[in-house]
Amino acid sequence: MKAYIFFPLALLSFTEARHFSYKAREQWLAQETIPSNYDKRFRPPPVSDHEDGPVQVNISMYIQELSICSYRQQLIVGGYFRQFWVDPRLAMTEVEDKDETILTLGDMFVDTPIWIPDTFVVNSKNGLVSDDAPETKGRSFLRVKADGSVLGSTRFRSKLICPMSKKDTEVTCSFHVESFGAKATDISYAWKDFEADSMVVSDQAIMLLKNNGWKLIESTPVNDYVELEIGKYSRVSLNFKLEKFEGEGEETESDDL
Ligand SMILES: *[C@@H]1O[C@H](CO)[C@@H](O)[C@H](O)[C@H]1NC(C)=O
Repeated sequence: MKAYIFFPLALLSFTEARHFSYKAREQWLAQETIPSNYDKRFRPPPVSDHEDGPVQVNISMYIQELSICSYRQQLIVGGYFRQFWVDPRLAMTEVEDKDETILTLGDMFVDTPIWIPDTFVVNSKNGLVSDDAPETKGRSFLRVKADGSVLGSTRFRSKLICPMSKKDTEVTCSFHVESFGAKATDISYAWKDFEADSMVVSDQAIMLLKNNGWKLIESTPVNDYVELEIGKYSRVSLNFKLEKFEGEGEETESDDL
């Protein structure tokens, strides 16, 4: 009986110790890497003294899940969401290999010691990561290279508002991304490798969508600006054109919509 009691306790303290040492190591590394005068409230300055303008944040996505619910007028998009930018304040000139990773942080949304863009999905009911998509919680990281380039990567699952009626056989749903607070003069978004296909829709996503009764006709990336009352904002969008399979009967619904 005792063995049953002690075993889980021992396991618990072991995992806690591991977690602590990982966090402690991360903090120590961050201290070593991040200059003492670094202020994460300010966005990165231009890469060179001769330049001016916003910090460029490039975005790519890998889509693993697509499903439509015409009843809820929504499209679910899930997968990986990556952001790339340069923060010259973090560059380590003494490191010879500029491509070398100098810092990796385990979660890009919790106690981040460096600046990150306040990117959000404009037309999502739940954001990028959320409680009702447990697979996205804590599934992110930040990686800083010696030249100051930063990669932020996260699992995401967004319920996009997509007005449609049950009778529609063709719909266009968009995924719109902007900064929440920073105007176009501070953050400029663009799809990474705009010409190449930076938004990869996996076979798995196509299959899930097919089982759902729909087919993806095309997904078109757009770099744009929006003029709001409170200023001009940089926006990237991905427009999904979808078509219902003919004669496939009712659209099927998954439980976790
Ligand atoms: C962002 O994309 C532009 C255009 O492709 C490129 O010139 C720039 O180096 C990229 N920046 C980052 C941080 O990836």
